[in-house]
Amino acid sequence: MKELSITLKEKTPKSKIRELFDLAAGRADVISLGIGQPDFDTPEPAINGNIEALKKNITHYAPTRGIPELLEQIEYKLREINDISVDWKENIIVTNGGSQALTLTFASLFNPGDQFLLFSPNFVSYFYLGPFFGVEVQEIKRREDFGPDFEAMRSALTEKTKAILINSPNNPTGYAFTQNEMEELVQIILEYDLYLISDEVYENYIYDGLKHISPGSMNEIFERTTTLNAMSKLYSATGFRLGYAVAKKEIIDLMEKYHQYTVAGTNHAAQYGFLEALKMDNKFFDEILATYKKRRDFSYERLKEIGFKVIKPQGAFYIMPSLEKFNISSEEFSMRLMKEKGVAVVPGNIFGSYSDDHLRISYATEMNKLREAMNRIEEFVNNL
Ligand SMILES: Cc1ncc(COP(=O)(O)O)c(C=O)c1O
Repeated sequence: MKELSITLKEKTPKSKIRELFDLAAGRADVISLGIGQPDFDTPEPAINGNIEALKKNITHYAPTRGIPELLEQIEYKLREINDISVDWKENIIVTNGGSQALTLTFASLFNPGDQFLLFSPNFVSYFYLGPFFGVEVQEIKRREDFGPDFEAMRSALTEKTKAILINSPNNPTGYAFTQNEMEELVQIILEYDLYLISDEVYENYIYDGLKHISPGSMNEIFERTTTLNAMSKLYSATGFRLGYAVAKKEIIDLMEKYHQYTVAGTNHAAQYGFLEALKMDNKFFDEILATYKKRRDFSYERLKEIGFKVIKPQGAFYIMPSLEKFNISSEEFSMRLMKEKGVAVVPGNIFGSYSDDHLRISYATEMNKLREAMNRIEEFVNNL
């Protein structure tokens, strides 16, 4: 028979995370530090908004770009929280999670043969979206502290480089850009005539008084920037599958076409849940953030104590200890840790070419489980 998709067969490996979780099947003692979602309940207004919409029989196609009430609310949120002033009629599209905001961005920005740059390690999907659109990923190794290495970035730029993709605060490193770094990035974008893709799905998870910076708020690069966000992490609502993309009209118009012919829109009733969530005072998050900060501090101190070299993350809910001292690959470490101690952590090698000597640990887990998991990791490490 004729050959099936080569891109899917050969350029995209089966998820290693899946394999790891297969090992956990049927075991009651497993503690997962692998999962990329918060552990608090989705706020009630989000759930009620969705239910009320269903009760009103809002069960048919939604407008392709999203319901106007939600688009308007996102416009308000962008102005108040991100300092980005846009017009909801032209500059916003509602998507199926942050994931589809990324797909729409790739579909609308790139032509086959283009290249884009990212700092590595980075979120796993970025590496595979490229090949889906015939676009080449150029990985720039992060600095030792996981910050952006602009010198390396400048020397990697080619004629074909069209965009830079950033995710701050970052999955998996927890790194958040400083104001100076953002300004340097803007200089590069302008100097080399590039686009910027800014994935901000962890914008609320930022510690130590640092402030999240949305590059789309900088007027000189608004036209070149696509800002992505989602309901998923902020409202602990990964199953709602809602997010949005923000960009100049020309880009959003192209996104709308792709959206129309691939998914025809997003879940209609769920958009009312997102709307109600966005109307909540952001203060609902203060207590959650304080809890996550405690877990971050605990994980950092404990990993250091166990003997890992580790950078203190400034955002998101991941920490990435180095295996440098232990002479073991990330895959072997995580597979054996799961088999021998029932703790799931993600091998660093899924996040790009420069992190096989790292693990990703998610601390979005209640404190007593986190404590027990760290004790088990310590026992495991002591027997290596
Ligand atoms: C950096 C980053 N971007 C996008 C996504 C996708 O988010 P969603 O679940 O809203 O599709 C994730 C999910 O883990 C992520 O970590």
